[in-house]
Amino acid sequence: MSYASPRVRSAPVNGGARDMVDGFGRRIEYLRISVTDKCNLRCVYCMPEEGLPWLRRGEILTYEEIAEIVGVMAGMGLRRLRLTGGEPLVRKDLPRLVDLLAAVPGIEDIALSTNAVLLAPVAKRLRDAGVSRVNISLDSLRPDRADAIARRPGTLARIMEGLDAAHAVGFDPIKINVVLMRGENDDEIPDFAELSRTRPLHVRFIEVMPTESNLELSASNFLSCDEALACVAEVDALEPVSGPPGNGPATYFSFPGAQGTIGVITPMSHNFCSRCNRMRLTADGHLRPCLFGTIQTPLRDALRRGEALEPLVNETLRIKPEKHLLVQGSSEGSGGLIALSQTGG
Ligand code: 5AD
Ligand code: SF4
Repeated sequence: MSYASPRVRSAPVNGGARDMVDGFGRRIEYLRISVTDKCNLRCVYCMPEEGLPWLRRGEILTYEEIAEIVGVMAGMGLRRLRLTGGEPLVRKDLPRLVDLLAAVPGIEDIALSTNAVLLAPVAKRLRDAGVSRVNISLDSLRPDRADAIARRPGTLARIMEGLDAAHAVGFDPIKINVVLMRGENDDEIPDFAELSRTRPLHVRFIEVMPTESNLELSASNFLSCDEALACVAEVDALEPVSGPPGNGPATYFSFPGAQGTIGVITPMSHNFCSRCNRMRLTADGHLRPCLFGTIQTPLRDALRRGEALEPLVNETLRIKPEKHLLVQGSSEGSGGLIALSQTGG
């Protein structure tokens, strides 16, 4: 494999269908779309308490613009989408965007990442529009702690309502994202694991990634997934399983006879970038080949000027880095990112 001059393939295959392959031979079929940089929570590992300098309305892509970009990329080989934020449900009438995206030829799967606080009232409409599955962030099962981590009162009760609604309308699979924090939620690892036994839930432990706004926490409260798994294995035997359908880097296990699974996402301890299949679209229309780093291609203004987007997408694919360069406890490698909410997590 050559590192010096990556070559990009975006050529017709399979009788006219095309694919996007980056310079390291990775097929890119998955786009995470941040529909807003705003959030109704302030999770301690994600956003500063005072929030961030929010984007202005005119800077943010309209739903029609997002659908147009997805249309171009679907013609190049994009197949699957995930809507993220910030918190995607704080943006007005998100189901309308799903209607537009579900109508794009070539798009086979639309998923949503949410904190679920605002999910219950719109769950059915989202499902009907074409969202098939959801990932829900849930970092503690204890009300006081969940509220403290999210820095908002009443959080856990509303997340649980959202989770129940997600089941009721038939999202499948439902994945729970738990960001591991030593001294904050590590004593709940067995409780989270137990959730996967009696309910068809896929609980994923995530290693905290350093950004400018969480350096202290990501340095002093870091807990590896290996430690979390060792803790789960003390509860009951764990066997490796293939896990629920999805696009991500999680590795899955399950308790014997469990309805759900336990997954680990190890950006810090076991790099998984060689399996990367994705790019990101920020709320203000930058196409990012990697969550971290400084590389991004502005698409919005070109789109508004009526220029062709395909060459810009191809160029972004060409410069997609081999891997992230994050260093635990340091802002080095994060590319100046203050919070993951700025690029869609
Ligand atoms: N490190 C790890 N996970 C994070 N998330 C947000 N910020 C971080 C971080 N710094 C998680 C959220 C959500 C997912 C999209 O990313 O909890 O589940
Ligand atoms: Fe909001 Fe998610 Fe960040 Fe929490 S982690 S503040 S829910 S975007």
